[in-house]
Amino acid sequence: MTEQSNTLLVTCALPYANGSIHLGHILEHIQADIYVRFQRMLGRQVYFVCADDQHGTPIMIKAQKLGRTPEDIIGEMENEHRRDFAGFEISYDHYYRTNSPENREISEKLYTTLRDRGYIQVKKISQLFDPEKKMFLPDRFVKGTCPKCHAEDQYGDNCECCGATYSPADLINPRSVISGATPVMQESEHYFFDLPQFDAFLKDWIASGTIPREMANKLQEWFDSGLQQWDISRDAPYFGFQIPGTENKYFYVWLDAPVGYLASFKNFMDSKGICFEDFLKQDSDSEMVHFIGKDILYFHSLFWPAMLHGAGCRVPDHLYVHGYVTVNGAKMSKSKGTFIKAATYLKHFDPECLRYYYASKMNGKIDDLDLNLPDFVARTNSDLVNKLVNLASRTAVFITRKFQGRLADTLDAPELLESFTAAKEEIAAGYQSREYSALIRKVMDLADSANRYVDEKEPWVLAKDAGRDAELQRICTTCLNLYRVLITYLSPVLPKLARDSAAFLKTDLDWNSLDRALLGTEISPFKALFKRIDMKSVEAMINDSLQDLKDLSAQESKGSASRKSEKKEKKAEQSGEAAPETVTIDDFARLDLRAARVISCEEVPESDKLLKFRLDLGNGEERQVFSGIKSAYPAPAALIGRFVIMIYNLAPRKMRFGISEGMILSAGSGNKDIFLLSADAGVKPGDRVA
Ligand code: MSP
Ligand code: ZN
Repeated sequence: MTEQSNTLLVTCALPYANGSIHLGHILEHIQADIYVRFQRMLGRQVYFVCADDQHGTPIMIKAQKLGRTPEDIIGEMENEHRRDFAGFEISYDHYYRTNSPENREISEKLYTTLRDRGYIQVKKISQLFDPEKKMFLPDRFVKGTCPKCHAEDQYGDNCECCGATYSPADLINPRSVISGATPVMQESEHYFFDLPQFDAFLKDWIASGTIPREMANKLQEWFDSGLQQWDISRDAPYFGFQIPGTENKYFYVWLDAPVGYLASFKNFMDSKGICFEDFLKQDSDSEMVHFIGKDILYFHSLFWPAMLHGAGCRVPDHLYVHGYVTVNGAKMSKSKGTFIKAATYLKHFDPECLRYYYASKMNGKIDDLDLNLPDFVARTNSDLVNKLVNLASRTAVFITRKFQGRLADTLDAPELLESFTAAKEEIAAGYQSREYSALIRKVMDLADSANRYVDEKEPWVLAKDAGRDAELQRICTTCLNLYRVLITYLSPVLPKLARDSAAFLKTDLDWNSLDRALLGTEISPFKALFKRIDMKSVEAMINDSLQDLKDLSAQESKGSASRKSEKKEKKAEQSGEAAPETVTIDDFARLDLRAARVISCEEVPESDKLLKFRLDLGNGEERQVFSGIKSAYPAPAALIGRFVIMIYNLAPRKMRFGISEGMILSAGSGNKDIFLLSADAGVKPGDRVA
């Protein structure tokens, strides 16, 4: 391992205060928390801090809509976020907020220093302005028709239909998302941070190993196309900090957001009476690392280090960048119920199932990480319950029952225990390089060999033979020592299980005294340490997530629903007589029809019409669909391997027997005549059907 300073500041990206924490966010906090717990275990002085990111237009608009103040809303969110992170055992030393006096102070200080050193420029720019709301409109708050492909209802920065990017002024028929008014162009003075001056510094900083090598190409592209000046100001009204020396200009939220890392740290240091300013000095020997997602690399690898450097402060030592969470092979989706809030997950599962699952797939790279829910259930049961905890439960019973809870004074297989403790450096290297998946594989290999040992020794057989008690006690003692090593290795991943295990073994689980075996001491009677989980809970969680979505859209559409029905009525009035119901070609085009392969098909016992399908949609995606075609297919297993056409974008429907995630289309007159595609229909799972 390379030489490290003893003091370490670790942060996660500050979550926006305008939404709940979901299982995508949680990945980052788990990744960082495991790292932090490992560093602490080695005895390093770690400060692990985070905060809510509370400024910006979306919060302001949301508050206006709800008739509340932004301060009111962000306070509520902050509490919710803290609760969610605590629920996942994220061990923050401090969780703070960007709307704080410390953040204002440090942001102003950085800004005035940059300004006085000639890094800020003032320029007039033209921007869309909402004449009703009397405010400038961020790109996302303007919608209109795409100038390239003429798709309607596109955002001001890019088109979701053709992918074109443009400026909001290019939109055809633009309108303000806030008031519906047609925006007008208006001039205003803006403040720019002169990023191009930092070109050479940033290239050096990046080359010095601060950023994963695999991202270097992306960064090179940014340099090749030339660094741009960065607009750091916004006009009033804006929820944020006013820029010193201006009348009505505010810091853009992304200026004070990373400063929030320091503000949180300062607030914590002040409360401890430790000097924060030393940490900021260029020659500080402490280390600062940021865990972030790949979507915010630009801010953290260019603006943030340049700002700090320009103001004469220390810069980050490392950016640890991760990819995105997908669920069952696809982007998290509100309508599929896979956009799962942290709080919703916690209603159904132990936080450590997810901590373990994520860890078992994390390799320190920026690849996306798939939360495959059936695999999540299987992995929890096979690894945590069957392999790990079982090791303790299979042997502890005998210690309690036959030896008054006392461990033997010697081991049966000291060389086996030695081979376990010998893995310590390898495991440590895995934590240090954030290749958690590799170290977990190693620990599970060890767990396999421990279980083989128990299977060979058959303590349950020995227990029937009073003459072999001493041997039995030594074997069980060996096994519990093996367990102790394994759970110590995993304690950064499974802090709760580690705590419970420490209480059960009546010992500290300490990295540095791993090789001293636990002999002759007493243990507590064994209590179940971990419960099996099942797919029923997964279904219940998805159902809850769908309900979360309904609650949210009910809240949000109260206003807009009445507006919509007004519009409809108007249209009907204009066209006179009610026309026969027809659908337009556009209505039809909205259906996303896809080929799917039947993975399994079974009867629904409680229903005489329904069959339950699992469908393969390609790329690892699977769907469950119910279809009322039992009359034509009384032997459902015969459908396995055949193809069907399904409506892929039908909103999921909750049925008495489970959720139906789409609809199967078939042809025929009904009853026995209902036709699906054959297994050799010449389509692949997921093919779009025109
Ligand atoms: N507020 C900014 C960060 C400011 S840091 C000075 C922000 N907030 S966020 O709430 O949108 O995202 C917070 C973090 O969560 C980011 O690192 C982002 O990459 C991460 N994730 C958000 N959705 C995610 C997934 N679906 N999967 C993995 N990480 C995700 O950006
Ligand atoms: Zn377009």
